[in-house]
Amino acid sequence: MKLLNVLVVILYSKLSLANVNVWNYREHGPDEWPKEFPQCGGKQQSPIDLDTTIAQFNKDLKPINFNNYDQNLLWNITNDGKSIYGRMINPSLIPSINGSNYRETFNLIQFHFHWGFNPYQGSEHRLNGSKYPLEIHLVHQSESGNLAVIGFFYRLGRTNVKLKEILDAAGQTIFKNDMIAINLNLVHILPDFDEANKNGYFRYMGSLTIPPCTEGLIWTVFRQTVSISENQLVKFYSNKLESNHRDVQPLNGRILQISVRTSNSRLPPLKQQQQHKYFQLSQQNVRKLSAATNQQLQAQN
Ligand SMILES: *[C@@H]1O[C@H](CO)[C@@H](O)[C@H](O)[C@H]1NC(C)=O
Ligand SMILES: *[C@@H]1O[C@H](CO)[C@@H](O)[C@H](O)[C@H]1NC(C)=O
Ligand SMILES: *[C@@H]1O[C@H](CO)[C@@H](O)[C@H](O)[C@H]1NC(C)=O
Repeated sequence: MKLLNVLVVILYSKLSLANVNVWNYREHGPDEWPKEFPQCGGKQQSPIDLDTTIAQFNKDLKPINFNNYDQNLLWNITNDGKSIYGRMINPSLIPSINGSNYRETFNLIQFHFHWGFNPYQGSEHRLNGSKYPLEIHLVHQSESGNLAVIGFFYRLGRTNVKLKEILDAAGQTIFKNDMIAINLNLVHILPDFDEANKNGYFRYMGSLTIPPCTEGLIWTVFRQTVSISENQLVKFYSNKLESNHRDVQPLNGRILQISVRTSNSRLPPLKQQQQHKYFQLSQQNVRKLSAATNQQLQAQN
């Protein structure tokens, strides 16, 4: 009997190993991704630390135009088990970006969020080594198929009433496959674009931050942040997905550019943010935690 059990267990684990496309932020977390998705072990991966001291000023990084962003659209907000996504339902005018040193216009295809276990982590990029509680990625594609992603950080601060619609939607899409249609004007959940352009953005060549980690993406992350309170962040912490941020990847000789001379920037330094000690569960600890939870569950059954 005992032997049979062991055999069944071995067979079962063999089967689950053969199960391709399994990835998550726990036992099949970012450290494991390169095994199934070789590109995740590539040399031009995202996110990275946006280190102001090494960023090179590039005068060709003109302001980014956010075309057709300021309009009320119907959005399909869905939880795919890895993030909360927003996709437009029948827009008559598609939001797009151009300007900067882009050679094309890129149409918005979706946005999604990255968060963590608590307000002192959650963003994927770091700014000067610090993580923010939340990061939004606006994914754009040109007609020729190139991808340009825009990232904005949300900083821990005062309650931001303009986030109500998206937070209500986040609170109603906490399980995988949950979905809800909402009216949303994207400019309500993003910083003022003129201010944001004035304070500058970082630019580098990177990748998707989730498998298959495809490279060749034109990454832009703005320095201007959007305020969100701890009470508001709870909408993300109630999600069954507890954390979905990859940690920073090595630059490997890539050049990090910035659109403003740092000395000219009027952006106030993030004193409040920097006082908080950054901490994150390592993948190893997440795996331990997950194993412990599984044991408890098995003990209960
Ligand atoms: C919303 O997105 C989900 C997942 O992609 C899809 O199954 C559903 O049909 C979409 N709903 C609408 C109204 O577009
Ligand atoms: C940017 O896109 C807008 C909207 O599609 C278009 O009207 C404008 O001409 C474009 N500008 C450039 C410089 O390509
Ligand atoms: C990052 O560090 C640089 C150099 O110390 C500083 O000038 C800049 O204000 C910092 N950025 C933020 C947003 O705090």
